[in-house]
Amino acid sequence: SEPRTFRIAAIPADGVGTEVVAAGRAVLDALAAGSDGSFAFDWQEFDWGCAYYARTGKMMADDGLEQLKEFDAIYFGAVGWPTVPDDVSLWGLRLKICQNFDQWANVRPVHFLPGVLSPLRKADDTELDWVVVRENSEGEYAGLGGRNLSGRGPGGEVAVQSSLFTEVGCERIIRFAFDLARTRTRRKVSSVTKSNAQQYGMVLWDDVFKRVAAEYPDVETESVLVDAMSAKFVLKPEDLSVVVASNLNADILSDLGSALAGSLGLAASANLNPERRFPSMFEPVHGSAPDIAGQGLANPIGAVGSAALMLEHFGLPDQAARLNKAIETVTGAGTLTRDVGGTATTDDVTKALIDALGD
Ligand code: NAI
Ligand code: MG
Repeated sequence: SEPRTFRIAAIPADGVGTEVVAAGRAVLDALAAGSDGSFAFDWQEFDWGCAYYARTGKMMADDGLEQLKEFDAIYFGAVGWPTVPDDVSLWGLRLKICQNFDQWANVRPVHFLPGVLSPLRKADDTELDWVVVRENSEGEYAGLGGRNLSGRGPGGEVAVQSSLFTEVGCERIIRFAFDLARTRTRRKVSSVTKSNAQQYGMVLWDDVFKRVAAEYPDVETESVLVDAMSAKFVLKPEDLSVVVASNLNADILSDLGSALAGSLGLAASANLNPERRFPSMFEPVHGSAPDIAGQGLANPIGAVGSAALMLEHFGLPDQAARLNKAIETVTGAGTLTRDVGGTATTDDVTKALIDALGD
């Protein structure tokens, strides 16, 4: 039969983004090459990012969203470089894609790998595995507000940054979390807010959580304030399965989770448009890491794990499992980049992953 060909837009963007996207592409191409022609990837690479901005004054082409619409998925690196203000680069590319393609569910597994030392002593003898589900379309990143609202000028400036919580937005992400919990061994959803202090939007979130929870009597629940949840990540992570939180809170918690698992370089992420009206976007959790960019030091595992999430989205769970198994084989064998205590380069790990696919 004809191979299924998946059209993927690659946007490596900045810093280590270019290194880890190249690594992920090489691993995915090796996977397809070993599939006896049952599936293939058709890549198109876009050079958007901070270097593009230096040439054009824009982070992406004017018709960039139109171009991306045609693809089955977007494989993203990381955006941001010291030459462009971070709010300009992030809003001009990554957030623009997430918001316009209504990628409202951001799934960020916290996965502990063999051979990688966790700063948590508990990780040695306790099974730890949870996933952060981030509301990815509103909340604190709604982009609502303004500067110099007092009109007072230098020294007297006032800025407002508002959070937006809609009942529809809360409900869809909370429902997503419950549905995800039903696919997991531990059926539990932990909802995270700061509703004692933020009494409008986050109390709405809490109310929706209670209402939706009633429809999932088979799923255990808890509501935890974000400060307490950050402590719980460290002290009682074995009690977590699915953690659902607003845009900012989940962003922070997922970096904490990946650090607990050993490194920001390990963490994978999927920005999903669950209705599939638009392409979803797969990217490592980390940023462009200017401190190590261009030196072959970037850990490609976050990007490769994100490719596995993309394969699941394509309906290829067995291939995703192959990729995840290759990751475990490689870390278990001690082929590790510097961020996780090894001396291997990005290329060393990439080659090892490709070799492990053959096992
Ligand atoms: P970062 O994630 O780039 O780096 C934080 C630390 O983690 C650094 O010490 C870095 O060396 C390390 N690290 C990150 N990725 C790694 C990898 N693959 N292998 C090994 N070590 C790795 O966060 P930072 O420094 O706050 O931001 C740098 C730039 O990235 C900024 O311009 C920021 O706006 C942008 N950024 C972009 C994101 C995205 O595109 N999704 C997400 C976060 C930040
Ligand atoms: Mg982040």
